[in-house]
Amino acid sequence: MESGLEATSFSIPEHVLRWSGQKMPITGFGTASDPVEGSELVTKLAVLQAIKLGYRHFDTASLYGTEQPLGEAITEAISLGLIKTRDELFITSKLWCIDAHGELVLPALRRSLENLKMEYLDLYLIHWPLSVKKGIQGVSGDEEYFIFPMDFSSVWAAMEDCQRLGLTKSIGVSNFSCKKVANILAIAKIPPAVNQVEVNPLWQQNKLREFCHANGILLSAYSPLGAIGTSWGSNRVLECEVLKEIAEAKGKTVAQVCLRWAYEQGVSIIVKSFNGERMKQNLDIFNWSLSEDELKKINDIPQSRGCRGEEFLSKNGPFKTLEELWDGEI
Ligand code: A2P
Repeated sequence: MESGLEATSFSIPEHVLRWSGQKMPITGFGTASDPVEGSELVTKLAVLQAIKLGYRHFDTASLYGTEQPLGEAITEAISLGLIKTRDELFITSKLWCIDAHGELVLPALRRSLENLKMEYLDLYLIHWPLSVKKGIQGVSGDEEYFIFPMDFSSVWAAMEDCQRLGLTKSIGVSNFSCKKVANILAIAKIPPAVNQVEVNPLWQQNKLREFCHANGILLSAYSPLGAIGTSWGSNRVLECEVLKEIAEAKGKTVAQVCLRWAYEQGVSIIVKSFNGERMKQNLDIFNWSLSEDELKKINDIPQSRGCRGEEFLSKNGPFKTLEELWDGEI
């Protein structure tokens, strides 16, 4: 094999999902960007490079427009011999709000699989805990478009059917508060395996992490670096003085301190970089640790949510305020 195409021998540690026993590499490669990053080719090349570097867990969503390039990159990685089969990877996608109606869940998953050119997902998540009126594309602040509370019973039952049919190995939720996770648990025959939410040193989610852990649900951290460069993110995490001091003293980058901290909290990590050096740097977090003193300093950082979801508020509800959307967890 040509040099540069050689697969790495490095392997990322794994979490075991409680309800399925499935193994999930702790670090996942995020493919969301906003605005959508360049052409599909950029995403495809980034994923190929990530596979070469040892990433084996990829996170996408029907909303992101990256299912197709991710699928193409995986097909190419197999033909280049970087991996033998798709089974070596852990692939997550998400149900968008427009499809969050019982009868639309299975067709939506089938569309995602078609985009990815795959027979099954490893994990299928409800992207947000709300539904958008049928037949309307996208989201908008415009009230006529919107939003009503999700019928958890029919949507979760359909998610369970997706797992029973073998179209996804596990199911879960995203952007769910403790209360909304509890609502799902109250009706679930198959409990959610994962709740993917914003987690970083400036929004540590201790209460939600403990609640999910107590119920066998793995918390998965999106925006672990604060999602700089997106409409929902900022530089506040990477520019945080406390983190900068710790990074400097340890000879690490702020990004590595954030990712190591998340790892030490026992959560899974979805980190996005389309830059080769930063992709490498983001994997270099497993053979060093933070001291008790450093953990305490991080613990003391004032907390506030970065990704607030204001676009999901509307005058007539169901979520009129952030308090309501997050059930007070803001
Ligand atoms: P890039 O793709 O140019 O590397 P998050 O994972 O919290 O959503 O953050 C993603 C953002 O952080 C992207 O803009 C990404 O830019 C940037 N990023 C990813 N890794 C690093 C890193 N190690 N150092 C600095 N910025 C990073």
